[in-house]
Amino acid sequence: MILVTGGAGYIGSHCALRLMESGEDVMVFDSMELGTRHALDVLAREFPDRFKGFVQGDLKDRGSIASVFRGRDIEAVVHFAAYSQVAESMRDPRRYYENNVGGTMNLLGAMADAGVGMIVFSSTAATYGEPEYTPIDEVHPQHPINPYGATKLMAERMMSDYGRYGIRSARLRYFNVAGADPEGRLGECHDPETHLIPNVLKTAGTGREFSMFGTDYDTRDGTCVRDYIDVNDLAEAHLLALRYLREGGASDCFNLGTNGGSTVREVFGVCQKVVGEPIPVRECPRREGDPAVLVADNRKAKSVLGWSPRSTLEDSVSRAWAWERSRR
Ligand code: UFG
Repeated sequence: MILVTGGAGYIGSHCALRLMESGEDVMVFDSMELGTRHALDVLAREFPDRFKGFVQGDLKDRGSIASVFRGRDIEAVVHFAAYSQVAESMRDPRRYYENNVGGTMNLLGAMADAGVGMIVFSSTAATYGEPEYTPIDEVHPQHPINPYGATKLMAERMMSDYGRYGIRSARLRYFNVAGADPEGRLGECHDPETHLIPNVLKTAGTGREFSMFGTDYDTRDGTCVRDYIDVNDLAEAHLLALRYLREGGASDCFNLGTNGGSTVREVFGVCQKVVGEPIPVRECPRREGDPAVLVADNRKAKSVLGWSPRSTLEDSVSRAWAWERSRR
């Protein structure tokens, strides 16, 4: 059985569903601070036999996570549970260190005690900080510029050091995750929502204006370039990372992105096309801490894991739009 921490959240739930689709048994551990009941209901409804249940608990509580491993046959952990908002991490770093670093420490300790030796970890491009070159490969220096990225980097480091206790890790560094389940069962729901695509789609048809942050960057149209990776392609990478570890692969890190980038204006254009009507936009000053360009060199995930992203940006936006409409 695979333990999925944060399996009621956006990326965690898509991955849990994909794991069960591929025949895995899954158990979810989630505090429900950010996860949704809806996601758990979908997992239980779609795979009643493979969904082995849900434990509500907080990784900050050492006893709570330790007890999950007792008496259960857990082969590996896929670890999503974390706070992930850059701006919030700057306002309240302690929350991030306690949850993302402290929580991961408790999880790894519980795994070591229980003799569970494989973990696939949800890391981020934010561990690289301001890019020194693009596309960013895995040997690019890691100098995070915000507490969120710093906590994820510390968790990565801890994970490599815990190799000493027989734990092998695949640390997956996501670029900009987007999209929703193609069958409309799951999607993104953050509160507050800070991400580009859901924010554009949320404005559509409401008469409100979408705020475009920063139009004076040194890029092809003045707006920031990001590498948008579809959440379903991302889920597939977790499956492949698990297979890699099962086959004896050594601890390693992998960038998950498309090797290409889109500007904010380009994404906005795709959103308007998918929605089929103009969306009012207001050009605003830069958002603090946004690097101009973040694009992944994904060749390592391709060659070592055999991963290859399939969805286009339009696929991701179309599914995100179907999800957004279903919730109105
Ligand atoms: N943007 C807008 N308007 C909005 C929201 C975003 O113009 O309402 C712009 C941002 O300024 C940025 C781009 O859209 O230029 C993308 O912003 P997102 O917030 O969607 O994504 P980020 O690139 O800021 O953040 C992502 C992940 C973080 C991670 C970070 C760095 O969501 O978890 O990449 O890797 F830390």
